[in-house]
Amino acid sequence: MSDSIVWRNGELWIEDVPAARLAAEHGTPLYVYSRRHIEQQFRRLQSALSELQPTIHFALKANGNLAITRLLARLGAGADIVSGGELDIALRAGVAPDRLVFAGVGKTRAEIEAALRAGIGIFIVESEPELARISACAVALGRTARVAIRVNPDVDPKTHVYTTTGRRETKFGVDLERAARVFELAASLPALEIAGLHMHLGSPLADEQPYAEALDKVAPLCRRLSERHPTFRVLDLGGGFGIPYRPRQPEFPLDAFAAAIIPRVRALGLRLAIEPGRFLLGNACVLLATVQYIKDNPFRQFVILDAGMNDLIRPPLYGAWHDIRPVRPRAGERIHVDVVGPICESGDFLGKDRRLPPLEEGDLLAIFGTGAYGMAMASNYNGRGRAAEILVDGARAGVIRAREGVEDLVRPMRIPEWLDAPPS
Ligand SMILES: Cc1ncc(COP(=O)(O)O)c(C=O)c1O
Repeated sequence: MSDSIVWRNGELWIEDVPAARLAAEHGTPLYVYSRRHIEQQFRRLQSALSELQPTIHFALKANGNLAITRLLARLGAGADIVSGGELDIALRAGVAPDRLVFAGVGKTRAEIEAALRAGIGIFIVESEPELARISACAVALGRTARVAIRVNPDVDPKTHVYTTTGRRETKFGVDLERAARVFELAASLPALEIAGLHMHLGSPLADEQPYAEALDKVAPLCRRLSERHPTFRVLDLGGGFGIPYRPRQPEFPLDAFAAAIIPRVRALGLRLAIEPGRFLLGNACVLLATVQYIKDNPFRQFVILDAGMNDLIRPPLYGAWHDIRPVRPRAGERIHVDVVGPICESGDFLGKDRRLPPLEEGDLLAIFGTGAYGMAMASNYNGRGRAAEILVDGARAGVIRAREGVEDLVRPMRIPEWLDAPPS
């Protein structure tokens, strides 16, 4: 799944650093990323689509770490952002403002103004009232906002219902039937420039089919828009390119994807933009956790870790499957266990009914495929500080996010004076 996260001398290494050494130095739970894997994935995508010279906007929602965003910015990536917070991270990381695309159904006035002041590339507009709001903000600031309307092509991406976004019953984008009218509204409002059309079908997608189907559906509209609006130049296909989470799961078929997309986009004469998140980061990372207890009841055996759903929520949220293996596997008969966390919820599991080698308290486990929507969705639930993050580069390893402690939990909290005042 990644040739940068490998087994060597009976234990797990991230590039040239043993996982166990990092856990000993930094504690667990610990997210560990491989720089090499991230760079390889970026270049694979870039080279598969090189004929179109696409702009690649890293979807920050998959992993908003400053250092990771910097690493991708240095490779030439732009960013796909969905909030004022992500705008700030992207700018601090050094992403060129004109390489930012700003999506999301609920942009506030303050977020729109901040993006206009920063001079972002394109607003991905999800509704008519949002279009009116962006226009009003741009007029007030004396700027022009470049907009792409997010069109919902009603294609089934065949993925989890929570991460399906390109169906007509979701809150995202505008349906294809109304899209032409929304573009006309954009053309009639002041301080807007129509830059292109956007779509994002869902995530993760297994192959090129839904993309090809969606492109065929929007092609007639794109042709009409190109004729009417000389500034209409960008076709943003969104993200969603899948990765293998299971050992024998196939890779996303990049060659077939390129073969399907390149002629379609070229025929439209548009510039391609894409917004990958998971594809770049997902398999670049393992989450390391320590076994706290082995607990039996008459029905099940539980391996209780120091990592839980507050660190990685994908298994309970999406029913997602992550490979779990000991960092230093012992010889012996494999056992069926539920790998769970310390959180007070029955939904707090990392893997159910797994066959693992014999385990003991203190053993280290690695949870694979956790680089995207892992740390990004972590929370402080149950009063737990968020994990630390490490980036490995060859034999070097650097902390890219410090572990949160109790101080970090209580810092934003306040006790109003009147709470301690004697009753009057
Ligand atoms: C608009 C948009 N673009 C891109 C992405 C990134 O998806 P992925 O990480 O699967 O590539 C998402 C994910 O939700 C999204 O909503």
